Amino acid sequence: MLLPAQIIQKKRDGHALTEEEIRFFIDGFTSGELPEYQMSALAMAVCFRGMNFDETMWLTRAMVESGEVVQWRKSPATSLKTDSGALGQHALPFYADKHSTGGIGDKTSLIIAPLVAACGVKVPMISGRGLGPTGGTLDKLESIAGFNVNLPLKEFQCVTEKIGCCMIGQTAEIAPADKKLYALRDVTATVSCLPLIVASIMSKKLAENVDGLVLDVKWGSGAFMRTREASAELARAMVEVGKRYGKKVCALQTDMNQPLGQKIGNALEVRECIEIMSGTGNANVAPVKHETTASQRLAPPKSNDLLEVTLALSAEMLLMAGVAKNVAAAREMLQKKMTGGQALEKFGEMIEAQGGDRSVCEDLSRLPVAKHTRPIPAPKTGDVRSIECDQIGYAVIALGGGRKVASDKVDFGVGFEQPKKIGDPVKSGEPLMIMHYNDDGSAAEAERMVQRAYHISEEAVTDRPQLIVQKIE
Ligand code: URA
Repeated sequence: MLLPAQIIQKKRDGHALTEEEIRFFIDGFTSGELPEYQMSALAMAVCFRGMNFDETMWLTRAMVESGEVVQWRKSPATSLKTDSGALGQHALPFYADKHSTGGIGDKTSLIIAPLVAACGVKVPMISGRGLGPTGGTLDKLESIAGFNVNLPLKEFQCVTEKIGCCMIGQTAEIAPADKKLYALRDVTATVSCLPLIVASIMSKKLAENVDGLVLDVKWGSGAFMRTREASAELARAMVEVGKRYGKKVCALQTDMNQPLGQKIGNALEVRECIEIMSGTGNANVAPVKHETTASQRLAPPKSNDLLEVTLALSAEMLLMAGVAKNVAAAREMLQKKMTGGQALEKFGEMIEAQGGDRSVCEDLSRLPVAKHTRPIPAPKTGDVRSIECDQIGYAVIALGGGRKVASDKVDFGVGFEQPKKIGDPVKSGEPLMIMHYNDDGSAAEAERMVQRAYHISEEAVTDRPQLIVQKIE
């Protein structure tokens, strides 16, 4: 007979748990037989003592099996074509997803889902809301009038199969153990713990039952993982768990020491994505190699960082699906779908299928906007040396663009645009970024936060963060 306290004690004292012990805990917690205080105690013991790979794998499996595993229709694909026109290596539809560990201005999902779907790959995405300073894909989508992110699982499947992509939040059926445990971790300071993060993210993705998964694992001042080493370790663990499940999986480790792209805040980010997909953004960016070379220490021009990460992640999805032979061919295909308008068309189809106002794709004035804008002046002259990127995320929350408590209503129109990036020169009084706001009091607070977040050096800054650090597979 297993006693919960004995299992907690075993982990507390640094011993590895068995699969049976982990399963007992997760099943008991999910059904409500095991109280939250015992689950919290075990989670904290795991934070201090860690888990070996087998334990992490068993934890993930117990969480996947706490709910349903989506069953996709596997009838032959008619739309899956390679770049040379022949049917891809998979005659059956290929289901692929991308998951990011989260960041500031990280809106790649909004482009990747329709763009990759426009290339014939099915993209079911189960996304999250804002977490800490990071923005959430669901909040961004909800800035489109009528967009429903709460579709039942069956409808999620139907829309994915019919349109090619669908974006929803975690349902009651998908990994319910994670849903419960995540809420508990959030209030017991047990979120940032590698085995718990691996099991949380991978249980949802494995329950989604895609064939291929591309992970965007971020590092830096705006990411969960503050160091390159910690984020690489997280990426390796998630890739290994995915592979043990027989999935095609890889991770790109990417920079989150500064906001990604030119806009931060829900409706502003949707606007930026539509601008890129409608061709106002520049789709012709030279590919970045994954190896570290001296020339890569300079980031691509600031206006292209969002597109660069988006194309790199999307290309990996096309490679997995077998619709492109190599990265160059994948990028060419993606760029054509972008400049030809098919990505935006697909985005519109998805918005309509999920109850939203698809006319935003042609008429950006249909998105919510804040009443006022004003520049945030730089406090001194010099080059931007570093940015406390999480503070930019918290400044969006201060403006009302995120939640201070779970019940807060999100103000979709507020945020920032045109941020100065690391290495940019700035003169005292010149804008660090442009603020969109509705309320003078919160604007004053957000302005101070942004000014404090920027570290400006009188010495020239010549090294910019490397945007894509490495591919882990
Ligand atoms: N995102 C998740 O879904 N889970 C975590 O633990 C961290 C980020």
